[in-house]
Amino acid sequence: MNIIIHGAAGRMGKMMEEKIRSSTQGAAVAALVDANPPAGGFASLEAYTGPADMVVDFSNHAATKSLLDYCLGRNLPVVIATTGHTGEEKELIGEASKQIPVFYSANMSVGIAVLADLAKRAAAAFPAADIEIVEIHHNQKLDVPSGTALMLGESLREVRPGAVLLVGRHENGKRTAKEIGVHSLRLGNEVGIHEIMISTGSETLTLRHQAVSRALFADGALAAAEFLRHQPPGLYSMRDMLT
Ligand SMILES: NC(=O)c1ccc[n+]([C@@H]2O[C@H](COP(=O)([O-])OP(=O)(O)OC[C@H]3O[C@@H](n4cnc5c(N)ncnc54)[C@H](O)[C@@H]3O)[C@@H](O)[C@H]2O)c1
Repeated sequence: MNIIIHGAAGRMGKMMEEKIRSSTQGAAVAALVDANPPAGGFASLEAYTGPADMVVDFSNHAATKSLLDYCLGRNLPVVIATTGHTGEEKELIGEASKQIPVFYSANMSVGIAVLADLAKRAAAAFPAADIEIVEIHHNQKLDVPSGTALMLGESLREVRPGAVLLVGRHENGKRTAKEIGVHSLRLGNEVGIHEIMISTGSETLTLRHQAVSRALFADGALAAAEFLRHQPPGLYSMRDMLT
């Protein structure tokens, strides 16, 4: 499987290149593409017309339209690991998935998928409890809150249909029963911590996931690519891969 890495010069792109080059499953790097291309790379997807079976995207959400246009034009499946998409960009992703296989997950770790599942079960067990989400990431992260925190919040809303995600509580006043607070800390080189606290007033349950190395996300993205290459057009996530 020949993989184009989009965002190849970034932290995750470099990690992805390392994983693909050391893969024993037949994965190979087709092209390195980045707005600031690395040596031997390409400054845009359009500039690369050679063989490819898949695109893995760890770039910036602003590139979504050109990324999808390229994949649609070449009929290539795409793993979108980038986060911070606007509603409009999410719609484009949904539209594209009608024609090509698209794997879209704000977090490529199996642990986070398990965390989301556990948190939903806990929230359902304590229907009146307060829920707060805290995420901690390195000081270079662009999107706030993290895509993963939002994904966890949305997943909790499946068992709390009336709940709203309150990003960054900053006004005076009591919390309301329907809100799920989402809070962001930016510290040093932290790869990613997500904590979900569920409190009834008489007991507090804390579920916590810590990513120790970025290699974890590259492993997940490569597994997603292996999964996606055998799928028909559609929108896939970690849930589909793990079930
Ligand atoms: N899904 C996951 O598990 C997961 C894990 C880690 C990071 N991420 C996300 O992946 C993205 C990249 O993270 P990072 O830490 O590697 O960031 P980074 O800033 O180190 O790298 C991003 C790279 O994308 C390039 N880029 C930016 N705009 C571009 C464009 N329009 N076209 C082509 N290249 C462009 C930049 O030049 C840079 O090299 C972020 O959105 C981040 O939140 C997702």
